[in-house]
Amino acid sequence: MKNVLLIIGGGIAAFKSLLLVRELKKRGIGVRVILTQGGSQFVTPLSLQVLSEQTVLSDLWDLTAESEMGHIELSRSADLIVVAPATANMIAKAAHGLASGLASTTLLATDKRVMFAPAMNVRMYESEATQANIAILQERGAIIVGPDAGAMACGEYGDGRMTEPDPLADAVEAALRGETTLDGWRDPKPLAGRRAVVTAGPTREPIDPVRYLSNHSSGRQGYAIAQALSDLGAEVELITGPTALPLPLTTTNTEVETALEMQAAVANALPADIFVSVAAVADWRPAEAHAKKSAKPKDGPAPLALVENPDILHSVCISEERPALVIGFAAETHDVAERARAKRLRKGCDWIVANDVTGDVMGGTENEMLIVTDTQETRLPRQSKRAAARRLAREIAAHFEARS
Ligand code: C5P
Repeated sequence: MKNVLLIIGGGIAAFKSLLLVRELKKRGIGVRVILTQGGSQFVTPLSLQVLSEQTVLSDLWDLTAESEMGHIELSRSADLIVVAPATANMIAKAAHGLASGLASTTLLATDKRVMFAPAMNVRMYESEATQANIAILQERGAIIVGPDAGAMACGEYGDGRMTEPDPLADAVEAALRGETTLDGWRDPKPLAGRRAVVTAGPTREPIDPVRYLSNHSSGRQGYAIAQALSDLGAEVELITGPTALPLPLTTTNTEVETALEMQAAVANALPADIFVSVAAVADWRPAEAHAKKSAKPKDGPAPLALVENPDILHSVCISEERPALVIGFAAETHDVAERARAKRLRKGCDWIVANDVTGDVMGGTENEMLIVTDTQETRLPRQSKRAAARRLAREIAAHFEARS
């Protein structure tokens, strides 16, 4: 019989863990439970003891446990450790090696695979800190299941609900059979074997060694899309202008400054199956980049002759190596849908993702996307750029699935 050591963190989703224990037992899997102090605010040791048919371990209990069965022995007797619900706090502790209770000590000491089923408020889940912590755990081989999107106990809507007991039990069974790869829940990876090129950020067009022309793009949306495509199994090359963001860990990253450099890097990165042109490429560049800092004119306006930059998106669309799916972005301030439709045709791309950039979209953390294809227009709700990226990546995967 396979055995799971289930760590129940402190979150309202802990009630689902009762059903998870019952489901695993039904499937012939032994379950030993560590109930954290937080978890015990939501479910009782007695319920878990009845369902698991074993004594329940808790942080309060661990002193006696140390003498009877140490935390090392505890994980040794399990085939898989499952943390459900995995709170932001538990994920942070595991990522950084804190050992402040029986649960986190067990996670630090184990040599077994660990599965986390995150459950938390959407903003906590989307935070840079939690995302970085999850990436650290994934890098180390942890299996991350979920979270699902939906209405949350805190009244908000978004990613953060713990995966339901049934699919979670499926993921546990798959992991016990050794079937899952690093991020098991996303298997099979629908974009495996596909290559994607994503541009992101602004470009910077030098006037002289000190000054440049640029725009407010933060790169957030492009980076999130590159990451989301990579999460679905695509091999991703991210070509980015200068941003303040950390580069994603699972993509190949090419850093450029100017539109001309970006165009060369894109040409170099083809062929690909998917091209997503998120970069806010500067439309113009100074006709001449002065080698020395230019002097202030004594009187009158400073002369600044500009020449137009190449349209990278359009050049990809008409190139011989045109990817099967080319997606452009349209930042608009008015008549968003109409202008997006026109832009799709003018650029020659397959989809345009349009957003209204009045307000703080450009450089901000949230976005409201309108995806315009040749056959349909899909309006997504206002959500974090990460969540929007995951949705777009799923749409891309569905597009390829429908064609195969
Ligand atoms: O024409 P507009 O700049 O609004 O088009 C935006 C789309 O075109 C974006 O996908 C952007 O990445 C791309 N673009 C480009 N090269 C340019 C200008 C825009 O690839 N020089």
